[in-house]
Amino acid sequence: MIFILTGAGISKESGIETFRDSDGLWASYSIEEVATFGAFKRDPTKVYKFYDERRKQLLSVLPNAAHLALAELEKSGQEIFLVTQNVDDLHEKAGSQNIIHMHGRLNAALCLACRHNFDWAVDLSEKDRCPNCGGTLRPDVVWFGEQPYHMPDIFRAIKNCKLFVSIGTSGAVYPAAGLVTRAKQNGAKTIELNLEPSLNANCFDQGFYGPATEVVPHWVGTLLIK
Ligand code: APR
Repeated sequence: MIFILTGAGISKESGIETFRDSDGLWASYSIEEVATFGAFKRDPTKVYKFYDERRKQLLSVLPNAAHLALAELEKSGQEIFLVTQNVDDLHEKAGSQNIIHMHGRLNAALCLACRHNFDWAVDLSEKDRCPNCGGTLRPDVVWFGEQPYHMPDIFRAIKNCKLFVSIGTSGAVYPAAGLVTRAKQNGAKTIELNLEPSLNANCFDQGFYGPATEVVPHWVGTLLIK
């Protein structure tokens, strides 16, 4: 099985900002003001607005050749376990069927009281209430200091993978950035596809560098002709 981890770099050429590049989101916004639970408690309106803007952007962006190539790989029957750190919906739009959003989804809301989550494609505010219990809703994205989703499933898949492939991620945020080390310890071959070597590039057996729309279809192509 091939474990594939994607990050913001795969969606960059679709027009979605990354986080840590010079033109990334964290150059214009402070993490402490929009991406922690403390920020939401202090100024919920600001946090709702930040994610409303990102959610609206999803209406106008399309999957690119990299997302499409991964969907094609899944359709070919190759066993893959696709995990994204991205909160956008471009893997789904490309046709990927099985995908884990470890950092949540922009198109979902989470109830602070009953912890149920709901598909949510429109703006979100304090006035919106949980359809289940009437509680306060927040964007269903994993903030700094919070546990990513589906970690037990992710660790199980890491144990079973023969190949670990990281695409478009800087390797700055854990636990995602630590998955390559676990995969290596379990004997998997490890490959990085990124615009440039990531912070943990030395953990990978091989690296292929360039825009995702070029390197990902090329890598998928090498698997499909085998
Ligand atoms: N093709 C491939 N890679 C690219 C491209 C591109 N066109 N453009 C940029 N990149 C690479 C950058 O070189 C960088 O290594 O994508 C990476 C993006 O890194 P980050 O902005 O740090 O994004 P990511 O790794 O996904 O961030 C992880 O941090 O803020 C949190 O929750 C957020 O899920 C996010 C997590």
